[in-house]
Amino acid sequence: PQPRKHASRQRFAQEFSQCLYDFVIQLLPTAEELAVKEDVRKLLERLIRTIEPDSRLLQFGSTANGFSLRNSDMDLCCLIDSEERLAATDLVNMAGDLLERETKFHVKPLPHARIPIVKLSLDPAPGLPYGIACDIGFENRLALENTRLLMCYAMIDPPRVRTMVLFLKVWSKRRKINSPYKGTLSSYGYVLLVIYFLVHVKSPPVLPNLQVMPPLRPISKEETHLNGHNIWFFDDIELLRQRWKSSNTDSVAELLIDFFKFYSREFQYSHGVASIRAGLLTKDSKGWESEYEKGSPRERNRLCIEDPFEVDYNVSRCVTKDGLYTIRGEFMRASRILATRPDRAIVALAQLCE
Ligand code: CTP
Ligand code: MG
Repeated sequence: PQPRKHASRQRFAQEFSQCLYDFVIQLLPTAEELAVKEDVRKLLERLIRTIEPDSRLLQFGSTANGFSLRNSDMDLCCLIDSEERLAATDLVNMAGDLLERETKFHVKPLPHARIPIVKLSLDPAPGLPYGIACDIGFENRLALENTRLLMCYAMIDPPRVRTMVLFLKVWSKRRKINSPYKGTLSSYGYVLLVIYFLVHVKSPPVLPNLQVMPPLRPISKEETHLNGHNIWFFDDIELLRQRWKSSNTDSVAELLIDFFKFYSREFQYSHGVASIRAGLLTKDSKGWESEYEKGSPRERNRLCIEDPFEVDYNVSRCVTKDGLYTIRGEFMRASRILATRPDRAIVALAQLCE
């Protein structure tokens, strides 16, 4: 009978939510790890200042947006506060040489990447059992802004948003579908899928759309634009927490179950573009339709996720046909496991992350 089914669903969701909280808490970085990372940042900043005295090294990505897992890599951005600065490509080469000479890091400069970076890594050692991996980019101010946007979304409803995102990050790593170099999706891409779902799919929404909320005071175009991109979003989180309360009361487990269901069966992969800024868009309207249909050798735009600020940039453009097939297969598998509602929620969690 229906009532009994409803009760069993409720009980499972409650237990599974608790399991999720307990699970992600153990995966957060320790205070010690954060301190080591901060020391590394300071050291690198000091060295880079010998080439560019007016530079600052800032963290972005997961170490700065509240979605960091234990032993995650470090994303650093070097900002230079002077008018006459070297081109990013030259800086990458010079910084690469310098760090090779002065530190124990393995150094790999990638001066010709879309965003020129220096890749650094330290091998595991006693006291640093997982080593350190770190990318340094130059003048990548948009990345700092999108990091801040993600952080604001995390802070509006930490129990639900952070738990969902952290779980999906671990899950996608364990299921091996978090390798942009191998045709699957970056963590950044998964975070955008979660936010898209919470802002535009769930009804009532769990999160507001920060990019369309009006500013509290009039602001000029200079303030809202960076390199021609509109980077405005409502970032007064204290005020937002006072004024905005979601009427969606779903638990984190219910949201996760729906998330898997939505991306297994409902999202229109063939024509749709997920945009946290503007909701569901079409590949056609963005000019992202053609590239695989024309049979171009490098497959692009199977999966389309619009970058929140760089709106011509498809964050998931490198996801291949096989990659998308695998990712969707994993969403379906997760959905199936959760639909069976095993007696113990912990068993479901273990199965999901097998
Ligand atoms: N980024 C981007 N475009 C991408 C991928 C990443 O602009 N296609 C930028 C974003 O600013 C993002 C940051 O790089 O916040 C780090 O991306 P990523 O490593 O994918 O996310 P993390 O949250 O750092 O995840 P992880 O812990 O797995 O490193
Ligand atoms: Mg990262």
